[in-house]
Amino acid sequence: MRITPSILNADFANLGAEIARIPDADAIHVDVMDYRFVPNLTIGLPVVEAIRKSTQQMLDIHLMIADPDRWAPSYAEAGAESVTFHVEAAKAPIRLARELRRLGARASLALNPATSIDSVADALGEVDMVLLMTVEPGFGGQKFLDLVLPKIRRTRELLGERDVWIQVDGGVSVETIERCAEAGADTFVAGSAVYSADNPNAMVNRLRELAVA
Ligand code: DX5
Ligand code: ZN
Repeated sequence: MRITPSILNADFANLGAEIARIPDADAIHVDVMDYRFVPNLTIGLPVVEAIRKSTQQMLDIHLMIADPDRWAPSYAEAGAESVTFHVEAAKAPIRLARELRRLGARASLALNPATSIDSVADALGEVDMVLLMTVEPGFGGQKFLDLVLPKIRRTRELLGERDVWIQVDGGVSVETIERCAEAGADTFVAGSAVYSADNPNAMVNRLRELAVA
């Protein structure tokens, strides 16, 4: 069970220090948005490069951008260990996943809440992780969508014994993480739950305990 906090709700003026507050995180989840794929703008490659220099933690980049085929490889080249792109945005998801792996990153495919996992079943052998959005992408602090739970189960079923991580992203908290884990998720993004806690690192460990239980 991996906890991969999103820094979307961290203090952007002090990112290095904010990341240093969660030493027990399994990876740092970085939400890249471009005002095109989603109605919000966050950070891009130069900031990810700066983050790379400031931490040894695994970087888990979540690209909510319109043209991942063009931009995703740069994030692998910048030293991110995992790069996630949206199937709704990619023109050639299999080619892109292979390119990311060739560059040494884990390749990961993200699905919006309304996108069916069966529609990408044939591509699952090409990726290291599937990210299932449990809110509509674009903003932190939204309400968890229970309707995604059957898709988590179906993803686990389709993956069988394959070593592909299932990550859930959006509204994951002490209230919802157990449902996700029970359905088969093993990797959990939590943004507001972690960064609104008095002790973010303690929250990381609490979430992991709840997921394992
Ligand atoms: C939403 C992002 C998430 C978000 C999670 O589009 O992909 O990573 O920051 O934040 P919470 O945990 O607050 O829903
Ligand atoms: Zn995310």
